Amino acid sequence: MNEHIIQIIELTKKYGNIKAVDNVSLGIRRGEIFGLLGPNGAGKTTIIKMLATLLKPTSGFAEVWHHNILKEQDAVRRSIGIVFQDPSIDTELTGRENLDFHARMYGLNKEKREKRIAEVLDLVELNDRAKAFVKFYSGGMQRRLEIARGLMHYPKVLFLDEPTLGLDAQTRHRIWEYIKRLNKAQKVTVVLTTHYMEEADYLCDRVAIIDNGKIIALDKPNNLKNAIGEDIISVQVSDGGKFSDILTKIEYIKRIRLHDDFLFLSVENGEIMIPRILRLAHEEGIFVQSVSLRKPTLEDVFLTFTGRTIREQEASVKEQIRMKAKASMRMGGKR
Ligand SMILES: Nc1ncnc2c1ncn2[C@@H]1O[C@H](COP(=O)(O)OP(=O)(O)O)[C@@H](O)[C@H]1O
Ligand SMILES: [Mg+2]
Repeated sequence: MNEHIIQIIELTKKYGNIKAVDNVSLGIRRGEIFGLLGPNGAGKTTIIKMLATLLKPTSGFAEVWHHNILKEQDAVRRSIGIVFQDPSIDTELTGRENLDFHARMYGLNKEKREKRIAEVLDLVELNDRAKAFVKFYSGGMQRRLEIARGLMHYPKVLFLDEPTLGLDAQTRHRIWEYIKRLNKAQKVTVVLTTHYMEEADYLCDRVAIIDNGKIIALDKPNNLKNAIGEDIISVQVSDGGKFSDILTKIEYIKRIRLHDDFLFLSVENGEIMIPRILRLAHEEGIFVQSVSLRKPTLEDVFLTFTGRTIREQEASVKEQIRMKAKASMRMGGKR
């Protein structure tokens, strides 16, 4: 179980002056679900593409299933399956035809193809819809078919690049179950990227948090969260800077982070601490707008290391997409 079947050594990818991936080293174990978690532009897809031999590193190298990604590309490709971030399935074919086409490329004979198609369709519960054209599939069904396709040639390692991007919560949860199932039933090592912290938390045995091309933390989700502290109290106040200075002197508060007008306090026994903190705010003439208590999330881990939240990044990307859509609608109107 502890054998590393992917070994990444000082992997770097530069685009001009940008270091998309910056000297990344890590080992991924046989049989685990390993997550690369980070905001948009962190370098996750670039790492996956290099491991899948689709992109040449600027420096460094990696071994996948003991094959060198620079020197043994064919062997690497036979060992892996990949589901890309952007949809890559032929919507003018049926589900079954898509799988059959893929299997032929890998040289599976007719008998083996039939058997395997039935198996992988079963795994993602698409047997009923196999003869329908993919253009009539929902987004979640298309994603499941892509996962099935990635498994057709019995890969040892499956790369999933943002497997639930843009899917609704319910569909996302279903996809998670399929990923867990294929990891167990097919004994496939899974390497997935995501910017959804709940996804990394729920699915992954270990998570590497990536920011600006670098690994900033790597461990089991629980260990990462426990390292932050037992409870997180968030307090929304009128003067965060002032209150933060006051709280710094209180020894039962292990860590303080100020973000906008929110203070995040890492403490033990949060329930007991809340009244004390409120009393202190009152004494110092600080107006408390809201207060809440929760367990740390991977978002807190990210925030601790970077001073930013993954959500914020995501929101700004959504805003960009919205602006683009608006702009293109305006252009459409002119035509
Ligand atoms: N083909 C490319 N040319 C120039 N820059 C790129 C290219 N592909 C990715 N990048 C840049 O590399 C960085 C990492 O991108 P990517 O690996 O796609 O991040 P992620 O998958 O984590 O969102 C980003 O800053 C991105 O703009
Ligand atoms: Mg990406």
